[in-house]
Order: sequence, then C-alpha cells, then structure tokens
Amino acid sequence: YKEVPSVQELAKKKLVTIPSQYVRDDQDSPSIASNDCNNKEVPVIDMQRLVNSNDHDIMNLELNKLHFAAQHWGFFQLINHGVSSSVVEKMKHETQKFYDLPLEEKKKFERSPRDADGFGHLVVVSDEQKLDWADLFYLKTAPPHLRMPVFSKLYLSLRETIEEYTEEIKELSMKILEMLGKALGIEKKEVKSLFEEGMQSMRMNYYPPCSQPDKVMGLCPHSDPSALTILLQVNETQGLQVEKDGIWIPILPLPNAFIVNIGDTFEIFSNGIYKSIEHRSMVSSEKERISVATFQSSRLDVLLGPASSLVTAHNPPRFKIMGATEFYRGYLNRELVGKSYVEAMRINHQ
Ligand code: SIN
Ligand code: FE2
Repeated sequence: YKEVPSVQELAKKKLVTIPSQYVRDDQDSPSIASNDCNNKEVPVIDMQRLVNSNDHDIMNLELNKLHFAAQHWGFFQLINHGVSSSVVEKMKHETQKFYDLPLEEKKKFERSPRDADGFGHLVVVSDEQKLDWADLFYLKTAPPHLRMPVFSKLYLSLRETIEEYTEEIKELSMKILEMLGKALGIEKKEVKSLFEEGMQSMRMNYYPPCSQPDKVMGLCPHSDPSALTILLQVNETQGLQVEKDGIWIPILPLPNAFIVNIGDTFEIFSNGIYKSIEHRSMVSSEKERISVATFQSSRLDVLLGPASSLVTAHNPPRFKIMGATEFYRGYLNRELVGKSYVEAMRINHQ
C-alpha cells in the first residue's frame, strides 16, 4: 500500500494543473442530463409518520413510500428523524474543527497502511490507481471491542461527540432497519439478530475545492458494503449524486435531514428486492465540502444471505451465503469501485 498526501494540503497550492493521478479521463459513467424534463428527486421519508402515528393509514402510507424508495432509489432523505439536534450540531462542529487543524495535528491519527482506521485516504493498491479528491477519517465505532487504538487517542471533545452521535445513529438505524424489514415482511427477530449488535463505523469526508472540478472525482462511483448508511451533510456545499436509470441525480440536502441509503448487506438480505445504488461525490471549484457517513452493518459472527422468510420455492435465493467477517474484509482489500463485489455473490437464475 502506498502513502498518499493530504488532498487538503495539495488543494492549498492552488495548482493550475492537477497531478495526473487525480485526473479522471475515464468518466464513461452516465452524466447528468441537463435541463432534464423529468428532473427527478430522491424521495423524502418522514420518520414521525412512520413510527409515531396513531393513525394506521398515515403509517402505512409512509411505509409504502419507504418501500418504494428502497426498491427504486436505494436512497431517501429522512426528516423528523428524532436524533437530537444538539448532538448533530456538535458532530458537524467537531468534524469541521478536525479538518481545520494543522496537518501535523491530524497526522497524529494517520492511518497505517495495514489498517482501515485512521486519517488519510481510501485503500491504494497500485501506482496506476486513480485517486479521489478527498481526505478521509475512518473509525470503527461500535460495538466498543471493535474500536481500534486510534479511537482512544482522539482528543476528548471529538471522542465524546462521536460516542454520543454514533449511539443515537445506531438507535435510528435499528428503527429504519426494522421498518424496512416490516415493509418486506421479514420477522423482526431476524432483523434484530443480525443487526442489533452489528458493526458500526464512520467516515468523516473532506473534499477540498479544486481548480479543475470537472476533471476530478471526490469519491468515485461505488455502492456501500453496509446494511444502511446515514449521511450527515456538514456544510452547505452539495456534491452527492446517485445513479437513477442511467443518469446521475444530485441530492440537495434538506435542512435537518439525513440522507439514508441501502447498502450491499441489505440488498443481499432483502434477496435483491431493495437496491444498493451507486453514488459518487463531486467537488466544487470554490468551496470545501464536508460530510459524515455512518455505516451500520451486520454482526461479524453471522452468515450473510437472503432473509429466510423471503426465500420460497417461487423466490429462490438470489445471493450466495457468506460469513460476514469474510464479506466485510473483502472490501478492505480492494479498491472501492462500482458494485462488482456484491455482483460476485449474485446467483443467476434462468
Ligand atoms: C459516501 O459515499 O460515503 C460519501 C458521500 C458523500 O460525501 O456525500
Ligand atoms: Fe458511499
């Protein structure tokens, strides 16, 4: 594995020409249709209507919306999510503060080439590999025994904020996973047994401005290995795009909302009914962009495969079964590109 310099520092040099390793000349991926007549938007789900309602019609309507979003978009914005706004604001503040630190301070948390956890860059496997225009800080957060030494080295305000934030996100994720299970007709206890004590990790993303924003990619197209990803937009700059019917659709984050997406684990668990959709992050020419992604995955001591209640004589399993540890480890040892990993687990029926 190669050491990669901080992109934040690189961007400060205000180079006229971007180093070639960052330049994407292979963007054959679908582009945004300009002036698209059917300018589509990612669905919005109201958590309060989903869980709190005494009115079953409202609840079922919202559950249907959730089912549709998970089936056809793999993405939605979640409003009235119930996570305390003071915790969310603290998380935003601490993330911004971390990236405002001088490089020497951030380097105290630098990722070693053998580990996933720490400050740095995504896995770099070869000299030819194109690099993303982003710095990352990745941490496993729960259950506590999965935390790496770098976690205990965090200064107090950051560590406490992450602990509070990820605890609330864990609760929220479980509620969403149970709702998704309900919409699919999966027994609650099967959802719980897989995800309740599941692995959780987070990634704080920093996308510096770039003088040639069209030539680079903040984060290249990929799907997430998690069951569910909860994204917090930290500042105003937008840049996330999701693929929908061969077109990249930008997400304009709503105030006080989370952007939620289905990951590969849940696509497999839903036997392919729900989709883990490719997304990418673009960068701005003038402004930095900061986001925090929290990944809720399964326990590590389980087998991943389609939920037993979804497999029948008429609905054969569409994915192979694999140990969760092996499944997640596979992601860490390769470049995060596209959906090829989950595709390798797919079973094709005639
Ligand atoms: C991600 O794909 O996890 C990050 C997306 C973003 O920063 O918007
Ligand atoms: Fe992602």
